[in-house]
Amino acid sequence: MTKAIWTTDNIGDQSGKTVIITGSNSGIGKETVKQLAAKGAKVIMAVRNLEKGRQAMTDIKQEVVNADIEVRQLDLSDLKSVRAFSDTIHRDMTSLDMLINNAGIMMCPKASTADGFDIQVGTNHFGHFALTALLFPLLCAAKHSRLVVVSSIAHKMAKINLDDVNWTTRKYDKNKAYFESKLANTLFAYEYVKRFSSQPNAPRLTLGHPGWTSTGLQQHVSYLPLLNKFFAQAPKDGALPTLRAATDETAVNGDFFGPANFFELRGHPVHVSASSESKNQADGERLWSISEDLTDVSFAMPTPTQVAS
Ligand SMILES: NC(=O)c1ccc[n+]([C@@H]2O[C@H](COP(=O)([O-])OP(=O)(O)OC[C@H]3O[C@@H](n4cnc5c(N)ncnc54)[C@H](OP(=O)(O)O)[C@@H]3O)[C@@H](O)[C@H]2O)c1
Repeated sequence: MTKAIWTTDNIGDQSGKTVIITGSNSGIGKETVKQLAAKGAKVIMAVRNLEKGRQAMTDIKQEVVNADIEVRQLDLSDLKSVRAFSDTIHRDMTSLDMLINNAGIMMCPKASTADGFDIQVGTNHFGHFALTALLFPLLCAAKHSRLVVVSSIAHKMAKINLDDVNWTTRKYDKNKAYFESKLANTLFAYEYVKRFSSQPNAPRLTLGHPGWTSTGLQQHVSYLPLLNKFFAQAPKDGALPTLRAATDETAVNGDFFGPANFFELRGHPVHVSASSESKNQADGERLWSISEDLTDVSFAMPTPTQVAS
């Protein structure tokens, strides 16, 4: 029996839903905006560069004429910007149907975020941790809301060093710093599922990884853009695991989607597994507590009165 292949035709009507997608001016994020807008969602593109974001919106609207999209500024490497973004969302909205934590950087030279975190774990994990915690009450206020974490198969190559998560004492290794940041995404996800899956109002969390997709992500590794031409899939295919994680109605808390073929590097999106490190409860709890301490943000379930009002 041949298994059905999941495509964008499987995405149901998204009308009436409001979705925030981080890092959506390019690559997988931009494609995700296009597909969700084409199915009727209102999409807020959360981008660090407004000019690039507006250009991406214009491109998308040429293909999806009635797309309901707006662009807002968010720099995940600066907690002030994360708070300012969240403030505008709280000012303008009473609930949020979906948050897709897509933005990312990979294997860039050693640098720090505005708050002194390593640039890779700071952008890929701490920024998203703070953003998600700040928007959590709005996600809890929407029925059947969803939180999507975009990780990478690279998480499987990591063992996280929680004694030096920001690479202050270790000799910097840009590859390992990326792998650890993507493991931080999956550790966060399974710790979240442990904490909130029994809470009926908390958003369902699903994960996706895009295999190997030709985007700007590979810019810091000289040979990767060349290899992209031979091995990588196009962003429209790389976005499918995220889109499935975002819209598959049968997905449950903690479901992870990635490409089916060639060691999960390409192909249609299927259920995949996270590494055993991702489910190490002691590491998950410790990362959560470090993240709360460093970002000074924590997740609070709204009280029944807050939900009702
Ligand atoms: N492509 C792959 O093969 C691959 C494989 C595994 C996982 N992934 C994951 O897929 C996700 C999307 O990456 P992509 O491949 O689509 O790469 P991309 O085209 O480079 O997209 C990354 C996006 O993140 C944004 N971003 C970077 N730093 C940011 C910050 N401080 N604040 C807000 N936004 C920021 C970028 O904005 P600018 O344009 O302003 O830089 C860009 O829009 C990432 O989480 C990545 O780790 C990709």
